[in-house]
Amino acid sequence: MSLARKNRRKTTVDIVRAKGRENLVCLTAYTAPMAEALDPHCDLLLVGDSVGMVLHGMKDTTTVTLDMMILHGQAVMRGAEKALVVVDLPFGSYEESPEVAYRSSLRVIQEVACQAVKLEYNHQAPETIRFLVERGIPVVGHIGLLPQFVNISGGFRVVGRTDDERKRVIDSAIAVAEAGAFAVVVEGVVCDLAKDITAAVDIPTIGIGASADCDGQILVTDDMLGQFAWSPKFVRRYADIRGATATAIERFATDVRNGTFPGEAEMYLPK
Ligand code: KIV
Repeated sequence: MSLARKNRRKTTVDIVRAKGRENLVCLTAYTAPMAEALDPHCDLLLVGDSVGMVLHGMKDTTTVTLDMMILHGQAVMRGAEKALVVVDLPFGSYEESPEVAYRSSLRVIQEVACQAVKLEYNHQAPETIRFLVERGIPVVGHIGLLPQFVNISGGFRVVGRTDDERKRVIDSAIAVAEAGAFAVVVEGVVCDLAKDITAAVDIPTIGIGASADCDGQILVTDDMLGQFAWSPKFVRRYADIRGATATAIERFATDVRNGTFPGEAEMYLPK
């Protein structure tokens, strides 16, 4: 097989180089067919731990397991050939120590064959990121609103309305970048703070509920396709999947009940 494949997969180096040149297009993916649909259009696909809420009906991301992330990561890798694939380290799989984070990340990289992992910021995150990067595991940081801390913060709250909070988030961005992360997700921060963070680091910032001043944007795909009755303020709906699905199911039920499905075109006729 030729090494110079035309549609080669994006690398972490490509992502870093995009800063200041082009806006990075990123979306979440959890399944092979969705990854296949997203792949031609995206620079980066994130197998987010949001999978717990989006596909499994969990109330937040704290009950997502490493095995779940690996299973969905494998599905996404089967559907994506061009985009860089990043898998979230779920709650409890990395916070204890850099060594524990390494073992979890190694499982992800080896069993999924994805290119990188993402982890949410905590006081030990810079040390953990450095430990992983020094051992060949690329890392995306996640700062601002931290969904895995929902039981501490008491809910999903926008961050950066006080000077103290602003400083803490900017410091976390700088720490993550200095530790060797190749990109950082900035979630749920007031818009001018996203601009300051983007200026403060030399790695791409990928915003979600953060403003157009980030180096790229990510949304939960199912949110932007209109899968849910409610979605956060920062989501723009590009489709009405929920409505289209309800209509299709209603039509199917009607056709079955009145005996018009299957019709001749949907049956195997004897010669
Ligand atoms: O889990 C996820 O989908 C994420 C995005 C919200 C960035 O972390």
